[in-house]
Amino acid sequence: MTAGAEQYLPATRGLRALRAAAATCRGCGLYENATQTVFGVGRRSAPLMLVGEQPGDREDRQGRPFVGPAGGLLARALDDAGISAEQTYQTNAVKHFKFTRTSGARRIHQKPGRTEVVACRPWLIAEIDAVHPRLVVALGATAAQALLGPSFRVSAHRGETLELPGDLGTRRRPRLLATVHPAAVLRDRSGDRDKAYRLFVEDLRRARDIVSSPPV
Ligand code: URA
Ligand code: SF4
Repeated sequence: MTAGAEQYLPATRGLRALRAAAATCRGCGLYENATQTVFGVGRRSAPLMLVGEQPGDREDRQGRPFVGPAGGLLARALDDAGISAEQTYQTNAVKHFKFTRTSGARRIHQKPGRTEVVACRPWLIAEIDAVHPRLVVALGATAAQALLGPSFRVSAHRGETLELPGDLGTRRRPRLLATVHPAAVLRDRSGDRDKAYRLFVEDLRRARDIVSSPPV
């Protein structure tokens, strides 16, 4: 039975209990071929939560988010935006790696479908509740649509300060800012990768300003 992650959530919702429970999640079919659940990492009360799409090949092997090439770019951009890793909690919308194999046994990333995103969302909501960040930064469409619905377009609302919808089940609602995925900057198709990188850093600076402003 794979009816979503909800039935795997533990009674206590601290990060440690959540991480242990997520390790045995079978809420969708992705656990079958992936190596392990890649749960979020970072400070328990980090003011800034970064949400990517799903673990990649390296993340799947190491069991940590953002340890591959996209993570390298993200780390550099955070640094350039004046955000220290200690200020962040980093996770993904989907916690297992989805891929196809080439004949050479290379594992090629596949975008998670809406069913998988919805199945995995309870973990993300539980992480938001446990960490209670001031701001969630959605890195790319998958993360943004996990939280704001499938009709949300990053291109139309990039860099804006948004509210999480009230029906998500979070106890306390942080604000949300959507930007592009670091892998999209790496594989830039606009022909100006430096500019794509600069715009990404600008969005992260905006995020930094939001979390470092006095609480209202
Ligand atoms: N891309 C993501 O979205 N998440 C990771 O953890 C790594 C790459
Ligand atoms: Fe559970 Fe999410 Fe993994 Fe699916 S992707 S099995 S819902 S942790």
